[in-house]
Amino acid sequence: MSNAPVLEIRHLSKAFPGKNGEDFYAVRDVSFAIERGDSLGLVGESGCGKSTIARMITKLTEPTEGEILLDGADITHIPQRRWKAEVFRKVQMVFQDPYGVFSPRMPIGTFLEEGLVFHGIMGRREARAEARRLMDLVELPSDLLDRLPHQLSGGQQQRVVIARAISIKPSLLILDEATSALDVSVQEGVLRLLMDLQKELHLTYLFIGHDLAVVRSITDRIAVMYAGHLVEALESEDLANQAAHPYTEKLLGSVFSLDDKGKKDIELESFSLADASRSAGCPFAHRCGRAVAACGQAIPPDVRLGPNHVARCGRLR
Ligand SMILES: Nc1ncnc2c1ncn2[C@@H]1O[C@H](COP(=O)(O)OP(=O)(O)OP(=O)(O)O)[C@@H](O)[C@H]1O
Ligand SMILES: [Mg+2]
Repeated sequence: MSNAPVLEIRHLSKAFPGKNGEDFYAVRDVSFAIERGDSLGLVGESGCGKSTIARMITKLTEPTEGEILLDGADITHIPQRRWKAEVFRKVQMVFQDPYGVFSPRMPIGTFLEEGLVFHGIMGRREARAEARRLMDLVELPSDLLDRLPHQLSGGQQQRVVIARAISIKPSLLILDEATSALDVSVQEGVLRLLMDLQKELHLTYLFIGHDLAVVRSITDRIAVMYAGHLVEALESEDLANQAAHPYTEKLLGSVFSLDDKGKKDIELESFSLADASRSAGCPFAHRCGRAVAACGQAIPPDVRLGPNHVARCGRLR
């Protein structure tokens, strides 16, 4: 196994055509790496580009610029056919809505076996036994194997989807708002399960979420996005004390002020992130208490603030 990070993205950008015919960047010059067994949390308000990054990694959308390396190999532009043969199995994604992943008439057991058989990991008979073991791993009773997806609760469905994703031993598991739709108490159970599985099986996660408090509690590192830019990345445990980017500070403020109302989602003033991403300078400049004229003129540099801490802010130079 190589010593390269499981995932490395370098200067990754994605431009989409905007309303007025002019392109806008949904993701702009984003770089980060995730080492084996680590988890990176990607946070930021709705529309900042989190899922677009996940979609580029899983080849659901092609990058405009930049590179994606998986286990050290450049997978940015490999053709679909090679992707299916060589990469598909290595990157598994879990989405917000588990039910959409199932075939309504396929029993849970068959759903779990299919993945193993399809990817050539084992034969049908062995897969049956493995399905029971997987159910045990995600703390579900094995009598659910004979049920249909709609006969399971949302939390149970998501546990099954997670079981299937890890059953084929992917290098990277991308969880895109995987627990956001679940009730708080169910969410806690699934998050704890994800943390336990990660430790037990040495899994590597890219964990995407809105809720900064939740994401930082289960990840090793946090990457904060704003209008397509990765504005700050640091160790999760340093977030409260060492966050330096004005946007991260604002997010932390909103998390804590909303906390006691039981409402933790990142919701700031409504305005267009797409407009901000068109800015010639720092996309956050017009909302930033520390901005000076230069901030609006050129995209700020990535300033290194520590071995594992970087922020894209001209005021931190
Ligand atoms: N296929 C597409 N064509 C045009 N614009 C797109 C496309 N996909 C995404 N976008 C735009 O790119 C931006 C980033 O979207 P993305 O889905 O990555 O955000 P997100 O951070 O995942 O948001 P959320 O938290 O709501 O899931 C948004 O402005 C979105 O409208
Ligand atoms: Mg999204």
